[in-house]
This record gives sequence, structure tokens and C-alpha cells, in this order.
Amino acid sequence: MRRTRVLIAVALVIFGTSAVIAQQNAPAPTGQIPAGLPEWAYTPAPPAGSPPPPSALPADDNANVLIPGTSKTMTRGALRGLKEIPDWHSEDRVGTMPAVVRNGREGVRACGFCHLADGSGRPENAPVSAYHPVYFMQQMEDFKNGLRKSADPRKANTNNMIGFAKNATPEEVRAAAEYFGRQPYPRRMKVVESKTAPKVRLQGGMHMAVPAAEGGGMEPIRADEIVEVPEDNLRAEARDTRMGWIAYVPPGTLNRGKQVVAKYQCATCHGANLEGIGPVPALAGRSPSYTMRQLFDMKEGTRRGPWSELMKPIVSRMTVQEMMAVSAFAASTPAPTGARPTTTSAAR
Ligand code: HEC
Ligand code: HEC
Repeated sequence: MRRTRVLIAVALVIFGTSAVIAQQNAPAPTGQIPAGLPEWAYTPAPPAGSPPPPSALPADDNANVLIPGTSKTMTRGALRGLKEIPDWHSEDRVGTMPAVVRNGREGVRACGFCHLADGSGRPENAPVSAYHPVYFMQQMEDFKNGLRKSADPRKANTNNMIGFAKNATPEEVRAAAEYFGRQPYPRRMKVVESKTAPKVRLQGGMHMAVPAAEGGGMEPIRADEIVEVPEDNLRAEARDTRMGWIAYVPPGTLNRGKQVVAKYQCATCHGANLEGIGPVPALAGRSPSYTMRQLFDMKEGTRRGPWSELMKPIVSRMTVQEMMAVSAFAASTPAPTGARPTTTSAAR
């Protein structure tokens, strides 16, 4: 029953004119950095001219990179090249990777370069695997139509993403949506409540733990921050899709997040275990930095596609603290198993 009501609500928004009117009334993004921006989630780039952080990859472009679990090797140059995305564990993929995901072309960078071969993504971009293709394609429309921007105008990769959405053909978008929709939901997010978190530095737009040999170690965690880091810096830089992520959150966060889910009834639309319902996206097991940015973007009105109308009354009441707690809780919820929609025709 509940499920039916949700799908009806979604359908109303999709087809309703009210959404269009509401959109016209939504505040236009101002291009300024909003007050209270949770910087830990947006990871703005260091000032121009700052020295690049040391890389875990070998310094020489011709040196071979090795990662656990495969006998494949790739040179550092090939890893960073733009011709073809690295895919260390191609045996894990479902179906054939379309050219737009693997190679891209002029004006449309290979989707898998940022979102990885399995669509699991990284904290600074977005998870795109195991989504309903109809949700996926709606996001591409929203980027294209100027309805989905980052609340932080400095977030260069989101600005790039908007360009790719504008340049990609409908066939490319559909092929990417169907391919990523088929990939298994990643189960690699670990959330740890802790009074301390690793010291981090920015690398490639995301946080990485500073290695012990370079002055790393644990430090007290801030009350309003999630520290999300890869389990292994080199494997993260090499885009290893089997590597996991750890999010450190202050003690008590998960319980608070659970209360936020109950308070705003997130489960009505996102499913009892936040596993998604039809085209309403799953939140379980996703990067908490990503989730936080979406909630904040929607509250700021920079993400305001037609479907965001359903989120608007909720985010307008939520505090940044509640957003942080619910992002952590959703990340800690086990990723769903089971069948996923595989075609764009399974729309509703
Ligand atoms: C330069 C890196 C980069 C590349 C290449 C890239 N994206 Fe993205 N993508 C992003 C970023 C960044 C976001 C948004 C993150 C945010 O909103 O905080 C995003 C978001 C998305 C989303 C929204 C996900 C969601 O859960 O709502 C979809 C869908 C998507 N991308 C599809 C694609 C497709 C298809 C391609 C290839 C044509 C592609 N991307 C190429 C960086 C990239
Ligand atoms: C009335 C239905 C409804 C409720 C209740 C609801 N959501 Fe949503 N949510 C949606 C829809 C529909 C979308 C897709 C929005 C879009 O496409 O812009 C969405 C999108 C999201 C996204 C972006 C996901 C992504 O992959 O980019 C997040 C995060 C989110 N919701 C979190 C929550 C949380 C947390 C709650 C409770 C505090 C909640 N939602 C309650 C309907 C709902």
C-alpha cells in the first residue's frame, strides 16, 4: 500500500505541472559560497599554486602499478591516461561496458574514469551503480537543464559533469544508465563511531589518510564532521573497485541518524532499509560525503530537478547536523541484495 502511494506521488511529480511552477519559483543559484557549507563534504581545492600532495603511485610514468587480487599490471601513465579507464577486475562486471563508459570521446569523458568501472564512484563524485535507469536518466536531464548544480560553485568536477550531460547523446546516456543499473550494489562502506579519526590531506578532490611515515596518525574528530577515507591510498589512486572505504563519525551519530530517518519518514519513499523503491534512489551503503552534499544542495536549491520537489519540504526543515547524522546512518545501513531493474522500459 505504502509503496503504491509512493509510486503515485512520484508519478504525480514526474507528470504534474505543479513541479514546473514550483521550479520557476525556486531560488536561482547565486554562484556564491553559501553560509554553513560543510566543507568536509565538498572538499574545495586548495588555493592555486599549492604544491600537489605526494602520491602513493610510483613517480615514474613507465613504472608498473600492482594491486592485490589480480595479476594484471598497469603503468602509472596508462592509469592516468584518458584513452581507456582502468578495469582491474573486469570479471566482476555484468554485461558489456559501453564505449561511453570505457573510452568516452571528445567532449564526453569516459564515465568510468570518475564513477569507476563498476559505477561505485568515489566520495568526491557520485555512486551511479544499481540505480533505476529512469532515475539515472532524470539526473542527466537535470544536469543538462541547469537544475542540478553544486551549492559550492568551486566544485569543478560537478561543473564538468554538467558539460558531459549536455554533450552526451540520448543513446549514450541510455547505454550508461542500463550498464550501471546492472552492476551489483557495492558493499564496501564501513562506518566507525570513534572519538578519533585519521589526519587527512586532499588528494584528487578526496580525503586520504596521511601515511604514518609522513606525519599521519589519529587526531580528535570534530563533532560536525565525517572523515571518509579509502582503506588504501594506492588502491584508491589506482581505481581498484574491490577496495573499501571507511567513514569515521563521532560517537552517537548513528543513533541520531536513525532518529532523523524516523522523524522525516525517509523510509516511506526510500524503502524500509533505505534500499530504494522503484525510481526513488537507494541511500544505503552510499558515500556519506555524497549524501551530505545532495541534502545540502537540495536545501540550498541548487539541486532542484522535478523529482527534488518531493525532498524540498523535508530538507527545508532539516538542520545541517541532522543531514550529517542521517548521511552517516544511511552509509552504515547494509547495501541491499537482490534483483535490480535492468532496462529503461521497466520504468514504473
Ligand atoms: C570528471 C568526473 C566525472 C565524469 C567523467 C563523469 N561524471 Fe557523472 N558525476 C560527477 C560528479 C562530480 C557528480 C555529482 C557529484 C555531486 O553532486 O556532488 C556526478 C553525478 C552523476 C550522476 C548523478 C548520480 C546520482 O546519484 O544522482 C549521474 C547519473 C552521472 N554522474 C552520470 C555520468 C555519466 C553517464 C557519465 C559519462 C557520460 C559521467 N557521469 C561522467 C563526475 C563525473
Ligand atoms: C516523499 C518522498 C521522499 C521522502 C519522504 C524522502 N525522500 Fe529523499 N528523495 C525522494 C526523491 C523522489 C528523490 C530524487 C530527487 C531528484 O531526483 O532530484 C530523493 C533523493 C534523495 C537523495 C539524493 C540521492 C542521490 O542518489 O543523489 C538523498 C540523499 C535523499 N533523498 C535523502 C533522503 C532522506 C535522508 C530522507 C529523510 C530525512 C528523505 N530523502 C526522504 C523522495 C523522498
